[in-house]
Amino acid sequence: MDFLTQVKEKAKAKQKTIILPEGTEIRTLKGAVQATEQQLAKIILLGNIGAVQNLANQENLSLDGITIIDVASSDKLEQYAEQFYELRKHKGMTLEKAQETMRNPLYFGNMMLMNNEADGMLAGAENTTGDVLRSALQTIKTKPGINTVSGAFVMITPDTTLGDNGIFIFGDCAVNPNPDSQQLADIALSCAQTKESLLGGEARVAMLSFSTKGSARHENVDKVIEALNIAKTAAPELHIDGELQLDAAIVPSVAQTKAPDSNVAGTANVLVFPDLQAGNIGYKLVQRFAKAAAIGPILQGMAKPVNDLSRGCSVQDVVDMIAVTALQCE
Ligand code: ACO
Repeated sequence: MDFLTQVKEKAKAKQKTIILPEGTEIRTLKGAVQATEQQLAKIILLGNIGAVQNLANQENLSLDGITIIDVASSDKLEQYAEQFYELRKHKGMTLEKAQETMRNPLYFGNMMLMNNEADGMLAGAENTTGDVLRSALQTIKTKPGINTVSGAFVMITPDTTLGDNGIFIFGDCAVNPNPDSQQLADIALSCAQTKESLLGGEARVAMLSFSTKGSARHENVDKVIEALNIAKTAAPELHIDGELQLDAAIVPSVAQTKAPDSNVAGTANVLVFPDLQAGNIGYKLVQRFAKAAAIGPILQGMAKPVNDLSRGCSVQDVVDMIAVTALQCE
């Protein structure tokens, strides 16, 4: 069974409730209908009820089984606005501004998550990455023990001799431009958690660098070593090692030469990049040159799963990411 089929099977068994705040966006609406037909999750669409129904009628879509909430007329608006004001007043938020902000479905959706009225959220077909991320970072914030939200990709490569049958988690490829060592340690811990929750099996985490075990000295390498030590202290049971060059991390024969004592080198299935330039370029290189499937970005470290779609997404991307989001839910 391929990765996405497995994710969908597991999502079906969990039956989580996922909010799609862009309810009048056509790909989102079609994705919601397909996910409901496939029983991947219970879907809540945010949007004007008449507008959603009109769009569904035009496209001949059945909204059976889908809940639609009209943010503008919701009786929760005032409660959420007050909660948001309390959360943000130290940042200069006023009640009036909070009331206005709560009319934005991204913020309303996050407040639903905070109030346990749903399990996860997926947006971004209309909104930018920054807007989706900021709305969640200002409300639900991070999981206990994690202070840094990051973005991972499941990379399905054709070379089944590498990683777990060719499958890897790459991170951070989407969020933190220049993480410090503490943030890099958080990214590594989140990537390990994503690997175990989405793919199953044990994570073997490589902290990537241009140096392997002291072969080069530079402050950028020191940052990776420091991050490794922080992550090891936080999760002593985790299989994690560094600093490792990419070849030492994933190729057993190179690992034998460059890092013979490492229990991760040569067999890593989670690759943690030292910064966003490396991570973002790295996943795209593998996607384009190796013809790998890149599934994500999967946001990790949020108190509840919130994922960001590309504005160029397809209906299939929406359906797939609904399943991924459902699987991230506890
Ligand atoms: N983890 C946890 N909290 C964070 C993070 C993070 N990574 N980043 C920001 N925050 C918090 C801040 O502490 C702040 O909290 P506070 O307001 O309670 O004090 C809040 O979130 C807002 O932070 P700002 O700094 O005001 O937000 P900013 O405008 O910098 O936006 C963002 C944050 C959107 C994540 C920004 O860092 C960003 O744009 N990152 C790059 C995204 C990107 O373009 N990725 C590449 C494309 S994606 C792709 O190709 C797959």
